[in-house]
Amino acid sequence: MSTSSIESVLTETRSFPPPPTFSAHARVKSLAEYEQLDRRADEDPEGFWAEVASELHWSKKWDRVLDWKLPDAKWFLGGRLNVSVNCVDRHAASTRRNKAAIIFEGEPGDSRVITYGQLQREVCKAANALAALGVKAGDFVAIYMPMVPEAAVAMLACTRLGAPHTIIFGGFSAEALADRIKDAKAKVVITADGGWRRGQIVPLKDNVDRAVEGSTVEKVVVLKRCSNEVKWTSRDVWWHDVVDKASGKHEAQAFDSEHPLFSLYTSGTTGKPKGIVHTTGGYLVGATYTTKLVFDLRDEDVFWCTADIGWVTGHSYVVYGPLANGATVMMYEGAPNQPGPDRFWEIIEKWGVTVFYTAPTAIRAFMKWGDQWPAKHDLSSLRLLGSVGEPINPEAWMWYRKQIGGDRCPIVDTWWQTETGGIMISPLPGATPTKPGSATRPLPGIAADVVHKDGTPCKPNEGGFLVIKKPWPSMLRTIFGDHDRFAKTYFGEVQGCYFAGDGARKDQDGYFWIMGRVDDVINVAGHRLSTMEVESALVSHPKVAEAAVVGRPDELKGQAIVAFVTPRSGMKADDALAKELREHVATQIGALARPEEIRFADALPKTRSGKIMRRLLREVASGSTARGDTTTLEDQGVLETLAQSFAQDE
Ligand code: WTA
Repeated sequence: MSTSSIESVLTETRSFPPPPTFSAHARVKSLAEYEQLDRRADEDPEGFWAEVASELHWSKKWDRVLDWKLPDAKWFLGGRLNVSVNCVDRHAASTRRNKAAIIFEGEPGDSRVITYGQLQREVCKAANALAALGVKAGDFVAIYMPMVPEAAVAMLACTRLGAPHTIIFGGFSAEALADRIKDAKAKVVITADGGWRRGQIVPLKDNVDRAVEGSTVEKVVVLKRCSNEVKWTSRDVWWHDVVDKASGKHEAQAFDSEHPLFSLYTSGTTGKPKGIVHTTGGYLVGATYTTKLVFDLRDEDVFWCTADIGWVTGHSYVVYGPLANGATVMMYEGAPNQPGPDRFWEIIEKWGVTVFYTAPTAIRAFMKWGDQWPAKHDLSSLRLLGSVGEPINPEAWMWYRKQIGGDRCPIVDTWWQTETGGIMISPLPGATPTKPGSATRPLPGIAADVVHKDGTPCKPNEGGFLVIKKPWPSMLRTIFGDHDRFAKTYFGEVQGCYFAGDGARKDQDGYFWIMGRVDDVINVAGHRLSTMEVESALVSHPKVAEAAVVGRPDELKGQAIVAFVTPRSGMKADDALAKELREHVATQIGALARPEEIRFADALPKTRSGKIMRRLLREVASGSTARGDTTTLEDQGVLETLAQSFAQDE
């Protein structure tokens, strides 16, 4: 065993109790209190969730809490509410009117503070502008924007009108954007001329121009952010022409609790991304409850979740959760190392950020850049740290705690998914002793477990499927346009349970250790990608006959993409082709999917029925010899050749 794995075993067995000063002021102050809440939720789930839901503003209260017929859940039936009223109006009508809702820091150094009163005016204007463009309840609006306050305004304006949004991360290419716009049948796209990233302009409007050709899109609203030159068509309108001039008053309608709030595309095990559909009441209850409990949020906090709004974390913990709680949200547009590797720490110091929530990939990058960068700044405003998106290795956890948290801040390692809408497994910072690398225990109301395929529970420390046994309000309701796929994917694998792809084990204390995906989904720098999606992109290239994509462990990104490619006969398998293919994937999907390595192979290992044996490729890509069962392999020689070509290169 290497020194670092011995260290990691030693760290894994350590436990950090919540600091007594933190617990003293926390909402949930001890493990006993957590357990009491958990028991109450378990004994009377509907009563528990009804109590949680009653903290929101409902125009009409629900008649029934839950209707559950596996796999279909309906929550707060008959209830009506408006999300933007809950996130904005009710605070603007209170003593929070002049409190900062959003503190914005642009990459080039511009900044803005927007109060709840101002946010309300902006959201109303945007809602009026969208309504004037013909957007009605039920119409899909695609949002492809940089991380600027107008992105949050656009989201909230959609919710005000009951128009579900579908946000596409700005790092996705024109092709990926086109697929999503087409699938959602979006009527309007909201974008910007460009966004700042590492000193460069991301040409968002150009991508939209290419993506909307021949689509259902009637109007494109364009925010001026970078003043880069853009092409203009009769479809386009400037944000400042339609929004700034609209009335700042707008009467919000309430929508049915089960009215769709948004759809967000995420990768599954096929080549086609899935539009995960969330609804108004249940989602907002989940986002609000988890933000309050996990981040122990209070009015004085400056809450910074570094995720982009293009991912679910940005939906739930940049916009809906914190704003529904009346918090002050920090929003930053650009890269963490622009202009220098201490940009995040500079922002924390400048604005007095108190709660900081980021991804393990970012933490590992900070570690690599060196301790001197955070050390240059006063980070004493921080009181709580969070981690999300991928398993955090104990070394990164310890570094985060010491270098960023000053050994003083609790860390919440939060496990959840696009499909779950909100955090499911996480410490409560004032109550749960933490163990580096474990997401600890499920939140009260969340019936998580680790089971075998037949649904029977695993023994302590035995690996199995991570499942949720009871419905929860912010669970996905369907895959847009494909309810059968929804039922099969999430409720068809493990008897009677929700299962979405992760393996885990529970230790003797009931702590969950997430072991990563057990399906063909890979997690690169906290971004979910399907191996099939990357494979489809590769085989769409005229020089490629066949491709198989796997993830291999990567120190920085968690996983890196390795593609095994068989070129068409007569094609030269050289560096130039590898480069061409890497670029091709970036154009088809986005830079985030660009393979780290392309490996050319005359043949891929397959079973007799022709199925590519990815498990073997994973082992080859990780540099280990294929140890597992290879008896179903059709041609044993293929594997040896692949392994040899690897050994020669390394
Ligand atoms: C992984 C992001 C370990 C997991 C919120 C899950 C995690 C997938 C953690 C969902 C964590 C997320 N520890 N793994 N704390 N959080 N994951 O949909 O594999 O982008 O299934 O949602 O990320 O990714 P998604």
